[in-house]
Amino acid sequence: MIIMIAAVAENNALGKNNDLVWHLPNDFKRFKSLTTNHHIIMGRKTFESFPKPLPNRTHIVITRQTDYNPEGCIVVDSIEKAIALCPEEEDSYIIGGGEIYNLALPFTDIIEITKVHHTFDADTFFPKISKSEWQLVESEENFKDEKHLYDYTYETYIRK
Ligand SMILES: NC(=O)c1ccc[n+]([C@@H]2O[C@H](COP(=O)([O-])OP(=O)(O)OC[C@H]3O[C@@H](n4cnc5c(N)ncnc54)[C@H](OP(=O)(O)O)[C@@H]3O)[C@@H](O)[C@H]2O)c1
Repeated sequence: MIIMIAAVAENNALGKNNDLVWHLPNDFKRFKSLTTNHHIIMGRKTFESFPKPLPNRTHIVITRQTDYNPEGCIVVDSIEKAIALCPEEEDSYIIGGGEIYNLALPFTDIIEITKVHHTFDADTFFPKISKSEWQLVESEENFKDEKHLYDYTYETYIRK
């Protein structure tokens, strides 16, 4: 399965200035537990937003640059090539950012969204998910607390 995973605000905001605009530690933990030991596909900008590659995951980075070769990554020049590298019998994750979510949506089987219940100033946005194509099958509400400034809901969508 190809699974898209994203944290998305009420106004579809994903991030600003190549960084996230919220800090939700439980969502980071969930991202880590879902993606560890899997292939993760990302755009060059998202890769560069990390201080270093994420441990125990196979990184596939998409770029148009022909001489881009960061250590510890597989580099490709299209979403098709990225997906072809993912083992068919395993789950692989599309982890962003905005450009790559748009490119990958037609290849995606499942979308795992953490809906952040707030509106943010942003420069990168998640694509619109059509209710006629995607069905919400699971939803788990979480409420703000001392470590989480916003309410957030884990939502799982499958392609209809
Ligand atoms: N909220 C979340 O869950 C989440 C998740 C991930 C990222 N983010 C945020 O999203 C932002 C980054 O997203 P972004 O949309 O700016 O960038 P991105 O999708 O991470 O990467 C864009 C780059 O991908 C490459 N690319 C795009 N289309 C391509 C194509 N058709 N063929 C080959 N290469 C292609 C290009 O790399 P080159 O320029 O090198 O050619 C392009 O600059 C940051 O703010 C980050 O924090 C948020």
